Amino acid sequence: MKKKSLVLLLALAMIFTFALSACGGGSGSSEESSDAGEETAVLKVVTEATFAPFESTEDGDDTIIGFDPDMMAAIAEDQGLELEWVNMEFDSLIPALQSDQGDIICAGMNKLAGDRAEKVDFGDTYFESDLMLLVTSDSDLTGIDAVTSDMKLASQIGTTGGDMVQEMQDEGKIAAGVVLNQWTDCYLQLQNGEVQGVIVDKPVGEAYLNNHGDIAKFVGESFGDHEEFAFAVQKGNTELLEKLNAGLANIKANGKYDELVDKWFS
Ligand code: ARG
Repeated sequence: MKKKSLVLLLALAMIFTFALSACGGGSGSSEESSDAGEETAVLKVVTEATFAPFESTEDGDDTIIGFDPDMMAAIAEDQGLELEWVNMEFDSLIPALQSDQGDIICAGMNKLAGDRAEKVDFGDTYFESDLMLLVTSDSDLTGIDAVTSDMKLASQIGTTGGDMVQEMQDEGKIAAGVVLNQWTDCYLQLQNGEVQGVIVDKPVGEAYLNNHGDIAKFVGESFGDHEEFAFAVQKGNTELLEKLNAGLANIKANGKYDELVDKWFS
């Protein structure tokens, strides 16, 4: 009897051992299933969407449209990334990456400005630009050097234009540098006479003039530092930055980049 029980016990032990190895053991099967079903991490792209044609929203719709979303979508497809976009104030963008509230900045951000590159890692340049002075059609101003100390100029807070109007105020060149959260507010203050000019990135001012050429104009030549727009990632995220740079190079090589420039800037 004893012998039979021993044989049965041994047989059961062998069956159990075989079953365990076949399903790869406790921890191995969970890794395999998680590997097999691993979700692709969705990367958060942060921007400030009153900067058409780079990024903007249409009345009543939170969807962000523009060159930047289209460009990043093409890069994401090329590199197998998944993106979601979050709209916030421009001067919150770098803090968002520093506090792990975002993975990528794509916002027509000049990678050469101030100490930005000490706080985040910028990628390759995807667009170049300069600043211009936007005034009302009836303005007698001839350019940025013609503004007088009784005037007010507006631009967006945290931007190169915003820094410039504040600098001009500090130097007594203008009565006030008005920095606002949204470009649309800057244009409104120009049109209602609260400011005599808006310092804005040339391609963005051109887009505004496309629809408001009857009430506004550029005056003078471009000024300030030549700007190089780039996306940015959290400091040290080299792997992601290399993917974004590779994707940008690929869409430039395959014609997609030029197609998007034609779509948004022609
Ligand atoms: N190019 C300027 C800068 O880097 C303005 C950028 C504003 N971008 C935006 N999405 N609001 O400061």
